[in-house]
Amino acid sequence: MPATALVTGGNRGIGLGITRRLLQDGWAVSILATRPAPEDVLGELRELAGDEARVRYVQGSVAEPVDHERYVQDAVDAWGRLDLLVNNAGVAPSVRADILEAGTESFDRVLGINLRGPYFLTQRFAQEVIRLRGPLSALPEPPAGPVATVVNVSSISATTVSVNRGDYCISKAGVGMATQLWAARLAPEGVVVYEVRPGVIATDMTAGVTEKYDAVFAGGSVPIARWGRPSDVAGAVAILASGQTPYSTGEVFHVDGGMHIPTL
Ligand SMILES: NC(=O)c1ccc[n+]([C@@H]2O[C@H](COP(=O)([O-])OP(=O)(O)OC[C@H]3O[C@@H](n4cnc5c(N)ncnc54)[C@H](OP(=O)(O)O)[C@@H]3O)[C@@H](O)[C@H]2O)c1
Repeated sequence: MPATALVTGGNRGIGLGITRRLLQDGWAVSILATRPAPEDVLGELRELAGDEARVRYVQGSVAEPVDHERYVQDAVDAWGRLDLLVNNAGVAPSVRADILEAGTESFDRVLGINLRGPYFLTQRFAQEVIRLRGPLSALPEPPAGPVATVVNVSSISATTVSVNRGDYCISKAGVGMATQLWAARLAPEGVVVYEVRPGVIATDMTAGVTEKYDAVFAGGSVPIARWGRPSDVAGAVAILASGQTPYSTGEVFHVDGGMHIPTL
């Protein structure tokens, strides 16, 4: 059985880029997303995998702990092992609104999906990794590398203010703290936790604001002056999930063309 990955929101955008890359690298991937199984996309992914058994799809919401249970159990039943969780699924606020006006409904929705969801899915994933592996102390010798990996997809909005989508910024700043918390708690369990922080990536999420970001790139303030691609984020995830950085945890990896670098 190849190494297995759970990729939330792996059916579209950045998540689809991550799914494709992991399949190319030999992983088995299970996707969680709210839409009914997209047979065209799944057909392409199965072809890429060269083995139907390496692609799974669970319809459900990352905001619902009952769906976490179904999602994790489905992978364990099918594959009997868990190696990687990529907490990618996320939403922007349905409407961008000045924080002097924005309401609690959007705040609760965005925080529920972007922060509460991955926080508790990580808990469920880690519980199951520990159960499947048994106590580390019972192993004949310490594992050579990480027992499992968690990668959280946050955003440059974790540290960069947009006053018309405060809920989104707060959710991603929270993901930054969740990364630190889980990195500290899961290190003794042999699990490493990383945060990938994209800048502006061309997906459905940013399709409505292309003019704004075209102007940002044309303005010269971003060192690598182009839109990011899902494959750019997928490359970072693939490296962090490869086990090649076993003495690092809680790290933030920017995928933003250098946008986070303060410039004068
Ligand atoms: N695009 C950017 O510029 C950018 C920049 C920084 C960070 N990010 C982050 O990167 C991640 C992916 O963004 P994207 O640009 O690829 O967005 P996207 O194109 O809108 O895709 C969002 C993905 O999340 C899934 N999703 C949404 N709500 C869900 C829920 N409740 N439960 C499970 N899955 C759900 C969607 O699938 P369904 O529709 O089927 O549910 C879809 O696969 C997000 O966390 C986002 O905040 C994006």
